[in-house]
Amino acid sequence: MAWDRRTARTYDTVAADYDEQFRDELDSKPRDCELLDGLAVRASGVVLDIGSGPGHIGARIRAHGRPVLAVDVSLAMAAAAARRLDAAVVAEMAHLPVGAEAISDIVAFYSIVHLPRPRLADALREFARVLEPGGHALLSAHEGTEDVTVVEFLGHQVDLSATFFSLDELVAAALGAGFTVASAERRAPYGNEGPNNRLYLELEKR
Ligand SMILES: C[S@@+](CC[C@H](N)C(=O)[O-])C[C@H]1O[C@@H](n2cnc3c(N)ncnc32)[C@H](O)[C@@H]1O
Repeated sequence: MAWDRRTARTYDTVAADYDEQFRDELDSKPRDCELLDGLAVRASGVVLDIGSGPGHIGARIRAHGRPVLAVDVSLAMAAAAARRLDAAVVAEMAHLPVGAEAISDIVAFYSIVHLPRPRLADALREFARVLEPGGHALLSAHEGTEDVTVVEFLGHQVDLSATFFSLDELVAAALGAGFTVASAERRAPYGNEGPNNRLYLELEKR
């Protein structure tokens, strides 16, 4: 099965438990909140939440009065996100059903982590295509070098690929896709998170 269908099937399977487990996660993630609030304050139009999951990340932005459109490859996740956000569509992030330069800002929290490493550049070029000039993107990922297969997630048997990235690798891909890098940072995991450092990129479309 193609990698994106495997991802969709996994997240369809775990969607309800993921929502239950993570819906309040931002309560204990102050740096994530600062970055999301920063994006929301700067946003001037529609914000795309790419790989939205159940929409709790986009909801933080929507709370600032910004319209947020969710995109997720999983139907169950998109359906959950539609309940928290303004709208949701099922799509793969390298093929967004959005016109060129239609979007002011993008948030993609822990969704590029499921791209096969060679697909990262395609996805970031697609993010740049849909953003207006000067539009912003905020990405997060896990730091590392490995490509792993996950077989158990939230008590379910799954078949899911996950890719760990270096900060330099993400910066290079963003520059190559037509972004300038406003900030690139890592933070150590909070106590309730897995062991890898978290990576954050704030990007601006050139
Ligand atoms: C780890 S969850 C993150 C969800 C949410 N953004 C968060 O931070 O909790 C990854 C999400 O990205 C979605 N996803 C993974 N690969 C994707 C792709 N290529 N295109 C669109 N969505 C994708 C999954 O279905 C899942 O909902």
